[in-house]
Amino acid sequence: MEETAKLIIGVIGAGTMGSGIAQVAATVGHEVLIFDSNSAVLARASDERKKSLLKLAEKGKLTPEEANAIQNRILSSESMKILSTCDLIIEAIVENAEIKQKVFSDLDSLVKNNCILASNTSSLSITSIAAACKNPSRVIGLHFFNPAPLMPLVEIVPGLATDPTIVKKSVELMTHWKKSPVVAKDTPGFIVNRVARPFYGEAIRIFEEQWNGLPAGEKGMATIDWAMKEIGGFRMGPFELMDLIGNDINYTVTETVWKQFFYDPRYKPSLTQKRLFESGRFGKKTGRGYYDYSPSAILPEAEKNSELGLKIFMRILAMLINEAADALYYNVATCGDIDMAMTKGVNYPKGLLKWCDELGADIIVKELTGLRSTYSEERYRPSVLLQQMAKENFKFYN
Ligand code: NAI
Repeated sequence: MEETAKLIIGVIGAGTMGSGIAQVAATVGHEVLIFDSNSAVLARASDERKKSLLKLAEKGKLTPEEANAIQNRILSSESMKILSTCDLIIEAIVENAEIKQKVFSDLDSLVKNNCILASNTSSLSITSIAAACKNPSRVIGLHFFNPAPLMPLVEIVPGLATDPTIVKKSVELMTHWKKSPVVAKDTPGFIVNRVARPFYGEAIRIFEEQWNGLPAGEKGMATIDWAMKEIGGFRMGPFELMDLIGNDINYTVTETVWKQFFYDPRYKPSLTQKRLFESGRFGKKTGRGYYDYSPSAILPEAEKNSELGLKIFMRILAMLINEAADALYYNVATCGDIDMAMTKGVNYPKGLLKWCDELGADIIVKELTGLRSTYSEERYRPSVLLQQMAKENFKFYN
């Protein structure tokens, strides 16, 4: 690994993700060079990193000398030229295909021939970004989760032309960075942003319906949040989590995944969330989302009815398992990687495929078939794999 530590890492974009990724790489011992077109962002990122490293030192997780050394290993510039000596560059700029393609095309002619070019995109196709380069075989997706220094998951996404040795090197490097890498096929949402869609989408759907016994308004949302936490063991409920992620980000990811799946009804966004997005009710960061976070607001009480809670939980869980099973069926990733992605990327209490094994595929298929017959909607079609499992009685894990 001595060789690995000597690699020079470039980061493009000093926003939330770029700054965190730079910190991760510098903590491992790499020299890190950051390029951002906005000098004010670079100065702010450096100040914030200093504060976050000092905090880690106060907590005893680093010595003050180490914190200083990490900060000193990071250099930044408003010029892309700073990246010319890099061995690996991770792009974390605005989520816009044309702007990313322009940056990759410029990089391609600036950097060394053997420099790996990675994108941290959460929803764009790696293949489409790579197509802007003369040498698309060196382009790969390295998708970190927010906050990058704390979240262990990294989705490694080869595009159609990516050289397999670059995939192998990326897995080794991310392991060296003490991350948990999983390899995902270049499909919309990769693993996490695809498999997690029903956690939000089905919860909103239940809320929107004149639904058996669910209280109206915020009390209904609080009841769904309560069911997922109390009965499901999730750390946060769907509405709390959407308000934390931001309804601007969450809505945009949903819409992008839906469009990229050629408008598959399973991923259809909801008007409820779109209206929040349009009104600027993004969640905690704007003081109002599904819930009201103003100082005078009174948080709604959930209706703690376990029968109702179990119905809500089973409906959402069945949809999540269906998505995970389909991701496996369509070769998006291995069984182990799909489960690891959800536990390490979004803190699910259990891998969804393992959960299915414990409950029985027949139970999940029954739930989905029931929903499909009630609603007559494609949204609830059970995965072919789950149907086979229920019929032939086999499991994901032996
Ligand atoms: P951000 O808005 O915090 O930071 C983006 C930075 O890129 C800004 O500082 C901006 O000045 C800079 N920038 C924009 N265009 C540029 C260009 N052409 N050249 C150089 N610098 C440029 O964005 P954030 O949230 O850090 O996201 C970055 C990327 O990471 C996006 O692709 C996003 O989808 C992805 N991502 C975001 C996550 C999140 O939770 N925020 C999680 C995982 C991935």
